[in-house]
Amino acid sequence: MKLMVTGGAGFIGSNFVMYMLKEHPGYEIVNMDALTYAGNLENLKSIENNPNYTFVQGDIADMEEVDRVFQQGIDVVVNFAAESHVDRSILEPEIFVNTNVLGTQVLLDAAKQYGVTKFVQVSTDEVYGSLGETGLFTETTPLAPNSPYSASKAGGDLLVRAYHETFGLPINITRCSNNYGPFQFPEKLIPLIISRALKDEALPIYGDGLNIRDWLYVEDHCSAIDLVIHDGVNGEVYNIGGNNERTNLHIVKTILQELGKPESLITYVTDRPGHDRRYGIDPAKITRELGWKPKHHFETGIQETIQWYLNHQEWWTRIQSGAYREYVNKQYGDR
Ligand code: NAD
Ligand code: DAU
Repeated sequence: MKLMVTGGAGFIGSNFVMYMLKEHPGYEIVNMDALTYAGNLENLKSIENNPNYTFVQGDIADMEEVDRVFQQGIDVVVNFAAESHVDRSILEPEIFVNTNVLGTQVLLDAAKQYGVTKFVQVSTDEVYGSLGETGLFTETTPLAPNSPYSASKAGGDLLVRAYHETFGLPINITRCSNNYGPFQFPEKLIPLIISRALKDEALPIYGDGLNIRDWLYVEDHCSAIDLVIHDGVNGEVYNIGGNNERTNLHIVKTILQELGKPESLITYVTDRPGHDRRYGIDPAKITRELGWKPKHHFETGIQETIQWYLNHQEWWTRIQSGAYREYVNKQYGDR
């Protein structure tokens, strides 16, 4: 099988490329990634010389670059490539539409033209909007995105759905909750808090810190996508989540405790505009129909993750310079 993975130099994509090469040593993987600020080939050092792996630098919204990859003969596409950070989408929405909507459409056209056996769109629970105190997102929950990021992901999802309904493209859409684990860009809550706490910097908590996210270890997300590629019923959506709802404050306090740092570092800052209060995924469908189960418990997963960032300080120190520094100054000032 020849697999095209887009966005494979990012957090989940790089974990997925490594996971698939380990689980399916006979598969060929072509990783197409534009290497935006979030793409980092260092994530893939352990497999860069694997003869079944190739990297192509390219933009999924560029028809010619995408066409060149499809000419190699692609069986399956897994589309991770995206602008993924909600706060950046509030500062600069345009690039989100370009990559997450137009880029998806360019990939879909190529997949249709060349014929693939599966197109998996990696999406997010954020397309469903925000939950109240009870209830969970299921695959039939109406889409109600609240940020430019989630709106652009919803736009991409709807195009994927339409290419199935209109052209019969064999697709699946997966919608996952918040991932955590190795190689996550340190603008996202968990690595941001770990890296700032280690430097005794103020820890920015939006609003009252009681917003809830449902956390899933990245490897469990990878195993779910692997199942969807092989057993997903064409046209179906699968929600993926770890049943690990935690408030942001709980996450931050857990990290501080683990690092032996004081809670006085916590600094409440102005809330994120349009901040979704609660996400919670019902993973019953993928569990029942495809037999998926997460392997990692949150309590051990978060400890392992903290340890990984402690052991890979060079990785995130290198990232936290240059262009990323400019964004941090824009977002948080000199805090
Ligand atoms: P990330 O920001 O770490 O990585 C995104 C990758 O896409 C980067 O390597 C970047 O260079 C690449 N990219 C961006 N624009 C591109 C373009 N135009 N062409 C080619 N490559 C491009 O993101 P992530 O957290 O790994 O998320 C991956 C996917 O999973 C995204 O589609 C995201 O919406 C989805 N998702 C993420 C989470 C999460 O918790 N991180 C949860 C659910 C779904
Ligand atoms: O739910 C899946 C989504 O999870 C993915 O689709 C997105 O790509 C991914 O970025 C993530 O989105 P969130 O907005 O939930 O993740 P983030 O790490 O940005 O924020 C997690 C929570 O922490 C959220 O409630 C906002 C809060 N937060 C975040 C940052 C960066 C803070 O309080 N302070 C911060 O500095």
